[in-house]
Amino acid sequence: MATKQLASWALTLQFANLTTPVVDMAVKSLHNWGGCAIGGYHQPVVALVQDAMVPFAAPGNSSLLGIQGFYDAQHVALMNGLASHVDDYDDTHVDTPIHPSGPVASALLAFSEWKGNVTGKDFLTAFVAGLETEMKLGLSVYPEHYDIGWHITSTVGSVGAAVACGKLLNLTQEEMQFAISTASIQVIGMHSSFGTDQKPFHIGRAAQSGLFSAVMAKGGLHGALDGLEDKLGWVNVVSTRNNITDYFNILGKVWETTRNTFKPYPCDRVLHAPIDGWVQVRKQALEQGLSFSSITNITARTNPSVLFLTDNPDPQTGLAAKFSFYHAAAISLLIGQATPTQFSDEVVRNTTIKALSKKVSVIGDKTIPDYSAYVSVTFGNGIVLDTHVEHAIGSLANPLSDDYLRVKFLDQVSKQIGEENAQCAHMAFLNMVDLRDMRELTKTFTSKLTRRDSRRGDPSVYIM
Ligand SMILES: *[C@@H]1O[C@H](CO)[C@@H](O)[C@H](O)[C@H]1NC(C)=O
Ligand SMILES: *[C@@H]1O[C@H](CO)[C@@H](O)[C@H](O)[C@H]1NC(C)=O
Ligand SMILES: *[C@@H]1O[C@H](CO)[C@@H](O)[C@H](O)[C@H]1NC(C)=O
Ligand SMILES: *[C@@H]1O[C@H](CO)[C@@H](O)[C@H](O)[C@H]1NC(C)=O
Ligand SMILES: *[C@@H]1O[C@H](CO)[C@@H](O)[C@H](O)[C@H]1NC(C)=O
Ligand SMILES: *[C@@H]1O[C@H](CO)[C@@H](O)[C@H](O)[C@H]1NC(C)=O
Repeated sequence: MATKQLASWALTLQFANLTTPVVDMAVKSLHNWGGCAIGGYHQPVVALVQDAMVPFAAPGNSSLLGIQGFYDAQHVALMNGLASHVDDYDDTHVDTPIHPSGPVASALLAFSEWKGNVTGKDFLTAFVAGLETEMKLGLSVYPEHYDIGWHITSTVGSVGAAVACGKLLNLTQEEMQFAISTASIQVIGMHSSFGTDQKPFHIGRAAQSGLFSAVMAKGGLHGALDGLEDKLGWVNVVSTRNNITDYFNILGKVWETTRNTFKPYPCDRVLHAPIDGWVQVRKQALEQGLSFSSITNITARTNPSVLFLTDNPDPQTGLAAKFSFYHAAAISLLIGQATPTQFSDEVVRNTTIKALSKKVSVIGDKTIPDYSAYVSVTFGNGIVLDTHVEHAIGSLANPLSDDYLRVKFLDQVSKQIGEENAQCAHMAFLNMVDLRDMRELTKTFTSKLTRRDSRRGDPSVYIM
């Protein structure tokens, strides 16, 4: 029943069914995703994949968001998905560690640019259908599925992307079941990739697989009609927990979309609370005129997931440093900022930062939720500064303000495509609900892009 139930719910969902908080959060999520996807093109791994794929990607009308380049929708879904997650700066569902927007938005925008005449309202409705799919599916198997080592964002992402694209394709009920089922067999992503080039690839591939599955369903590819709930289907094969019936019964009654949150810092979400605390301690230390070179000890008492996910004492790359509480502490105290710049390879190699990171330790405490932390720093003469972060910035109870989101977007995007284009992109994403054709959104900034150098390879390959 579950696959059929999801297909039927998604196909009947209309813009008018979406509550105002759902629409608002969907728009914010797409805006935040857009900033990450455009800005993410600065990372070498994105250029590397693009360079390698040039001989295989077909010409098309879908936009690589951070550089001048138009290719077929499947290739663009992969590239924008990769770029949107590479900085680990995207979004997080409160009740699971799913970063929901990446797989769905990356597939849906590329697909809409191919299709043409997709209105902002239809786009948002399909986006919400995809988001709800991912999060309900994730809740049905969390935490067992995640704890065994699956990267839950991508394992549910292909299904969310298939549902979203399938909706725009106006699939029949049965075709949608096949689309869901075909997406579900393309399971991708394990924790072993965290901190490496492979992690953002999970999101790109999930987007691409989802789009592929919807197109294949329209084309007539058949398979299991009950691919999610079958005894040997997705839920039962990838998880020892199966609560899919209960969660799918509340599709459209409880909206997971409103429980999405945006990352304040470009690193694993469990580091946000301790970073918040260390940045506060830095402010106190500056006020008291304490010297950072006198620091002898840095600690955090946090949820044990910080140790499970980020206990890397000696990261060698910016991507690895996104999973290192040692690096996070050192940059928070020495620089007082955690933006993509502080997670670059160059900053990771900085010897002052490396030296301070050796003084950091974390104590896991199950009674502390992952949005809280107690941090403490010992300075010379035994002076101790400490603080308790009850609700980290960006958590559900302390969400990023519109102003923070604007600054975050413009900072990422201006660096990649210039300030003027960044302003256009910012406004276009926030006002998408009124668009008659989603192609207008990307035109506001991609049409003015000039050729940009990649860090690796020949920049001319981007120009079609
Ligand atoms: C791109 O769009 C143009 C104009 O609408 C159309 O003529 C062309 O066939 C499209 N190209 C592809 C590959 O879809
Ligand atoms: C989009 O709609 C316009 C106006 O109705 C029509 O002329 C055009 O052919 C449509 N394009 C596509 C790709 O469906
Ligand atoms: C969608 O498909 C249904 C049949 O499944 C058809 O009645 C309807 O007209 C289609 N809508 C669009 C916009 O193509
Ligand atoms: C299954 O999901 C329902 C609906 O959210 C929830 O009330 C229930 O506690 C869940 N059961 C398990 C075993 O997770
Ligand atoms: C290393 O980081 C410190 C703290 O931000 C900074 O003062 C110093 O200039 C950096 N050193 C190099 C070589 O970049
Ligand atoms: C810092 O203090 C903690 C808790 O007292 C201790 O476990 C840790 O070893 C100390 N670290 C250093 C570098 O002294």
